[in-house]
Amino acid sequence: VAIQTELDAMRRAIAVGRDAVGVSNPNPPVGAVVLDATGTVVGTGATRMVGAAHAEVVALAAAGSAARGGTLVTSLEPCRHTGRTGPCTDVIAAAGVQRVVYALQDPGVTAGGGGDVLRGLGIDVEAGVLAAEAAVVLGPWVTAEMRGRPHLTWKYAASLDGRTAAADGSSRWITGDEARRDVHAQRLAADAVLVGSGTVVADDPALTVRAVAAARQPIRVVLDTSARTPIDAAVLDDAAPTIVIVGTDADADRVKALRGTRAEVVECPVVDGHLDPARALDELFARDQRRLLLEGGRTVASAFLRQRLVDRVVAYLAPKLVGAGVPVLDDIGAAGIDDALRLTTIEVTPVGEDIRIVAEPTESGG
Ligand SMILES: NC(=O)c1ccc[n+]([C@@H]2O[C@H](COP(=O)([O-])OP(=O)(O)OC[C@H]3O[C@@H](n4cnc5c(N)ncnc54)[C@H](OP(=O)(O)O)[C@@H]3O)[C@@H](O)[C@H]2O)c1
Repeated sequence: VAIQTELDAMRRAIAVGRDAVGVSNPNPPVGAVVLDATGTVVGTGATRMVGAAHAEVVALAAAGSAARGGTLVTSLEPCRHTGRTGPCTDVIAAAGVQRVVYALQDPGVTAGGGGDVLRGLGIDVEAGVLAAEAAVVLGPWVTAEMRGRPHLTWKYAASLDGRTAAADGSSRWITGDEARRDVHAQRLAADAVLVGSGTVVADDPALTVRAVAAARQPIRVVLDTSARTPIDAAVLDDAAPTIVIVGTDADADRVKALRGTRAEVVECPVVDGHLDPARALDELFARDQRRLLLEGGRTVASAFLRQRLVDRVVAYLAPKLVGAGVPVLDDIGAAGIDDALRLTTIEVTPVGEDIRIVAEPTESGG
């Protein structure tokens, strides 16, 4: 059983790992803390860039000889494989720690199983400590690793009666300033932010993090079957990297024009006249994107929901009634109420005058 100093250290490890979100890809945003034999913190570390040392190794290096006889506390099971760096289990054994406490198991086929390796080396191992708190930061990475595709959060803002725009089309500022800041914080926690070309053409959004302090910007992704993103669109500026995913049959001149911008242009197969959502996700996974925020609009959101590719829904509901207007979604393949996509509510939080609801599909999916 983990003692209080270990629980405190785990909370610190989780917090340190949070700073690595979007920086550590494709590695997980892990944090680690080393306690010496008396329970004093002697080292902390987070997983940084690709090819750089993992969190445990950074923390053990900081601790030096003070780690001997101490405890390593880390938000993810230490890896036992040689990837771009060597196995963490070797470094842990060499450092002479007598106990390892971790929160979540590594689902990787080659990386996972480090806990058993450490036990085999005579180290006392405790797994599952503050797993739910660690999952807030690492859960999307774990899901992505298990499914072999990025974790996708769909975010939308609507009136209480589920309209994203009024009957005349006006939609700006459905929700208030605090909700807007909250959305920017959600962007900051994502590797990439996705929209359809319809949103780019209609709103010309920048999709950057501006309303909260940001040390990095998520990548912007436009799903643009026919390559109709205007070359002077705000998403193509230099404020953040951009990927435009176009259909393999898109007009060659328009694709060429997009290739002349700062954006990376990626071609993807088309099914029924639109980009295949699953293949678009494959392209992003191959580019190390693990945690995606889909910001709309309803055409693209409905396409991903029809394929059951959404792992989390974040709804901002404004206490306003619009009546006739634009619905949040189109057809998502649920003709009757029995076919509805069932969600489990994770959290309901007031955000300024609005309400944020976080929910996840009840069936774990495949
Ligand atoms: N309230 C909110 O939370 C929110 C969020 C975002 C947007 N919006 C609003 O939504 C409106 C735009 O709506 P929209 O539905 O046109 O935007 P959208 O869903 O962002 O874009 C739709 C376009 O995406 C392209 N696309 C790419 N892959 C697709 C696929 N697999 N399936 C279907 N389409 C695909 C299609 O154009 P191509 O065939 O040309 O590629 C399609 O016309 C704007 O007025 C905006 O303000 C609201």
